[in-house]
Amino acid sequence: MATTPANSRGTWNTKLGFILAAAGSAVGLGNIWRFPTVMAENGGAAFLFIYALLVFVIGYPVMVAELSIGRKTRKNPVGAFKALSSNKIFTLAGFWCVICGVAILSFYVVIAGWTISYFFEQIFYYFGMFSLAEWVSNIDNGWLNVGVALLFMGITISVILGGISQGIEKAVRTLMPMLVVIIVILIVYVMFQPGAGAGLREYLVPDFSAINMDLILAAMGQAFFSLSLGMGALITYGSYLNRKENIPEAAAYVTGFDVGIAFLAGMLIMPTIYMAQAEGLVIYDDAGSLVAGPALIFQVLPELFHEMGGIIGLIFGGTFFLLLTIAALTSSISLLEVPTSYIIDEHNVSRKKAAILVGGVISLISVFIAFDTSLIDDIDFIFSVIGLPLGGFIICIFLAYIWKTENAKLELEQGFKNLDNHWFWPVWKVFIKFICPALIALILGTTIYGIF
Ligand code: PHE
Repeated sequence: MATTPANSRGTWNTKLGFILAAAGSAVGLGNIWRFPTVMAENGGAAFLFIYALLVFVIGYPVMVAELSIGRKTRKNPVGAFKALSSNKIFTLAGFWCVICGVAILSFYVVIAGWTISYFFEQIFYYFGMFSLAEWVSNIDNGWLNVGVALLFMGITISVILGGISQGIEKAVRTLMPMLVVIIVILIVYVMFQPGAGAGLREYLVPDFSAINMDLILAAMGQAFFSLSLGMGALITYGSYLNRKENIPEAAAYVTGFDVGIAFLAGMLIMPTIYMAQAEGLVIYDDAGSLVAGPALIFQVLPELFHEMGGIIGLIFGGTFFLLLTIAALTSSISLLEVPTSYIIDEHNVSRKKAAILVGGVISLISVFIAFDTSLIDDIDFIFSVIGLPLGGFIICIFLAYIWKTENAKLELEQGFKNLDNHWFWPVWKVFIKFICPALIALILGTTIYGIF
């Protein structure tokens, strides 16, 4: 995207630039931190199966919907809903998107802060400074959590201020492939460790009897979180998208990248969990439930790097956490961009003021989370597991019944010649009108019914 002065909208420089930016938004802590943790809580391979299914049945169609609404209106979610309908309910829905973004980012920066802490842990450990290594990796240290979270937030704000294109496009183009290469090498390494086989089995051999409503809900939440859906991040990114581009095709690339990287991360982390367990780390309690919680990967991955040992351990461990920080950054940028562009568009504030204001408020909330990390699970449940699919449901209903699929078609046809004769059109239309909203409503409905 060319740098945006206060109100005129930039666009992504190239098609690849857009795909990279959207993939950068999708690939992040969701793939490497959240996916393995939620899977370890929810029966391994059975979860993977349902997750993959929901990505294609709900995630991909909703992604196309968000991008087309964004490109049509060239607005943030609140502005986009307002532009296509005067119904106040949808303005409120737009606000819900902005609120989800704010809430998710407020814990996202804390976890991203841990990736910075662990980068330093690797270095201190290598140089034999064990007490420093221990200090910097103590994720119960509130002030330390605040420090690294604010550092991460500061970097996010400065990227948003610098205009997006060059930064994100470049970072994603070179660093994502590096992340993939490192993960693949680590997978090969871990396979030779004692205990790893059991983890791999847990990951790849499904026990379908483990499927229940909790698992399905968790898988849906993960699909939305990982693909950056349901809170208008891709409405906002779509608003910078050139009319020449083919939206369904771009969305397919982004979905493919994201799922591919999540799959690889699971292939690394599940066996690592079992390896660490074979070494005496307590991962599951006697009743079989996960004890580690949100800190899981930060407990087991360093084990792996220390196991590798020496300079090799440092190189892999250091680079891994550095790349993870950057992957988190390309996602946090998109989370911050939603409320920021809302303030810019709707309240006529400069980009600089808006980013600092929103970033400041989110930082404040994150301080509380940094001191009480048990809040992460609750906030994540309300805003990611329930909030994002709810947003996705509203987006489907809005597109299908307010804006209407025929109008969406006119938008999609720009960049997709012959859409009319392509199988994509009738299939997507049925999904967005019926299948996606019905499935989301069913899964959310049963859960909410179950809670009361
Ligand atoms: N998809 C990002 C990740 O997996 C998180 C995110 C969620 C970003 C929602 C934007 C919107 O880390």
